[in-house]
Amino acid sequence: MRVITTVQEMVDERSRWAGSTKIGFVPTMGYLHEGHLTLVRQGRKESDKLLASIFVNPTQFGQHEDLGKYPRDLPHDLRMLETLGVDVAFVPTTEEVYPPGFVTYVDPTGPLTEDAEGKSRPGHFRGVATVVLKLFQIVRPDQAYFGQKDAQQVAVITRMVTDFNLPMELRILPTIRERDGLAMSSRNAYLDLQERAAATVLYRALEAGRRAFEAHPNEGLLAVTQAMTQAVLEEPRAQLEYAEVRDPNSFTRLEELHAPALLLIAVRVGPARLIDNFLLRPDGTWDIGIRITE
Ligand code: PAJ
Repeated sequence: MRVITTVQEMVDERSRWAGSTKIGFVPTMGYLHEGHLTLVRQGRKESDKLLASIFVNPTQFGQHEDLGKYPRDLPHDLRMLETLGVDVAFVPTTEEVYPPGFVTYVDPTGPLTEDAEGKSRPGHFRGVATVVLKLFQIVRPDQAYFGQKDAQQVAVITRMVTDFNLPMELRILPTIRERDGLAMSSRNAYLDLQERAAATVLYRALEAGRRAFEAHPNEGLLAVTQAMTQAVLEEPRAQLEYAEVRDPNSFTRLEELHAPALLLIAVRVGPARLIDNFLLRPDGTWDIGIRITE
């Protein structure tokens, strides 16, 4: 596996792959876990050349957020990527991605970025869209891999690929969960033992919401959000930020219960801000993610 740290070297390496039929790309912020690795494994199966990036993108963190203490373990990450057969790990510095004079941002607008995560984290999706477009321009992948765990990020990037006519495909894979249902996240590292136990409340709340969705189709959305809210209220270590049902593409609020729908939840547990979702697909089946078994 080649580790590349400059944009110029990455662009040069990419141009040597001009003949490859399928170039796959997995963008990450590192501190890799099974959620990331699932994207890498799928990418490996489907790509002739596979590239993963590790870059903790400062522009997607708010002023009072956790940029400074975001967990990092580059040697471990590189070992994982190498083991899974990644061809290139792209690990640029902040100065490489945002050199002096950088002023141009991608700024998605509307409910897609103003509600849910967008409301809680103003500017977050501007930072995400900007860095992802930059990475796409540098890497020029045929297919890029993202996790359903970050459902709003998926919607924003899907929209950007359409809006900017990017000649590539997005592959979205289900949320990978711990055995007790907690969605894997680099931020789970912030939790102590008791907080870790409490953090299963996101999954429990989504399950409660899903049950309400199925049990009370006539009582409307309130029953679903109330079920989610109630589950969080019963967990003393958790503070609810939002529990909502939205359209998975536009992120507008649903007015009545119907597929497709996203059950969304954001909760603070101790020092960590955690998000999760269940997706009711257009065909009426649920994507609630996959629990690891070993
Ligand atoms: P990061 O949080 O490191 O996540 C990288 C990718 O892994 C994202 O597509 C995310 O949705 C996916 N992922 C994280 N946890 C997952 C889980 N439990 N199951 C499945 N997929 C999971 O998301 C980002 O980084 C950044 O915003 C980025 C896109 C790299 C731009 O900076």
